[in-house]
Amino acid sequence: MKARVEKLYKFADPKPDAVVFANSVDPHLDGGFFWVFDVPSGLFEGSIAIAHPDGQLDLFTSVLEAETARAAARRDPHVNVHEFRTAADLEEGTKRILGSARTIGLHHQEITHAGYERLTKVLPSAQWVDVSGAVRRARVTKDAVEIERLAKAAAIGSQVALEIPSLLREGLIERDLATEMNHRMMQHGAEGPSFATIVGFGPNSAEPHYFAGGRALRSGDSMVCDFGAYSERYASDITRSFHFGRRDEELKAVHEKVEEAQRAALATIRDGVPAKEVHLAAQRVIDASPWKGRFTHGLGHSIGLRVHDGWGMNERSEDQLEEGMVITVEPGIYLPGHGGVRIEDDVLVTKQGYRFLTTAPRSYVEVPA
Ligand code: GLY
Ligand code: MN
Ligand code: MN
Repeated sequence: MKARVEKLYKFADPKPDAVVFANSVDPHLDGGFFWVFDVPSGLFEGSIAIAHPDGQLDLFTSVLEAETARAAARRDPHVNVHEFRTAADLEEGTKRILGSARTIGLHHQEITHAGYERLTKVLPSAQWVDVSGAVRRARVTKDAVEIERLAKAAAIGSQVALEIPSLLREGLIERDLATEMNHRMMQHGAEGPSFATIVGFGPNSAEPHYFAGGRALRSGDSMVCDFGAYSERYASDITRSFHFGRRDEELKAVHEKVEEAQRAALATIRDGVPAKEVHLAAQRVIDASPWKGRFTHGLGHSIGLRVHDGWGMNERSEDQLEEGMVITVEPGIYLPGHGGVRIEDDVLVTKQGYRFLTTAPRSYVEVPA
């Protein structure tokens, strides 16, 4: 992906002679690796990508993904594939490619400490510099291919969100609903869930980063379902909240307040707006309500090859929104011991506003028990 490598060098200061992305063992795989080397499948454990200032990429892969790598290289003439069999092979190969480089960039944010030590020992006289800031900057705005994949991942999430009400019945276990949601995401074309699906019933819905446990659904429960799909390596992240059975007037009003907070935040989104302002637009709505202080996390984050893609939106954010960013907008209100509501969408930031990538309805739904 020549254009991505060039974009990375545009942000690098000082400019290194080469940038190395080194994968370790799953899950310690570098998102930067898959950003410069666009390959639809394969783990690529232990693989290394060396990106050069002219946009060329040297790609070291083991035999496990060699065919996939070669097929990707046939589609992209800027990629040279080298197959390694042993660690000594890989060392010799990286030394050969990097031999004349004086300054070499590394992605400290995602390389393991062991990977760092291995590489820096191979070329002890090179100057190794951290290019994490440039990688983050380059990855945070998406190109057309990335937007298309994020939209596909979001469409899968939206479709499953639409199907959730039809799956609900008294006694349903959180974990069983999560399993069904994961299954449906794959049926709709996902490679898998982009993170551990959150399904919280009743008081569990008041815990923002719950997983999916053993509680059975009861009439009167609020429910938070927070999940996402991977599609061609790109993630989605959507939350829909529902109410099951007997009306709870407070939780209904909470739902309507969260919707209002999300609308207020969305109305501020466009190129050039401070991220902090977007967060505060939602927080102000909630803090002016009876649930002041019950919005307990940042409003959202960048999303891409990872569900949390290196950039967050909260009251301390110093960044601005930029056209081409894809971010989540996810206000919530949590009442410990009672229930919670969160509504989360993925949106593309545009010059004048935003475009929804997730489209499932957001308004209050009361599913009969
Ligand atoms: N799924 C975790 C989050 O919404 O950030
Ligand atoms: Mn989420
Ligand atoms: Mn999120």
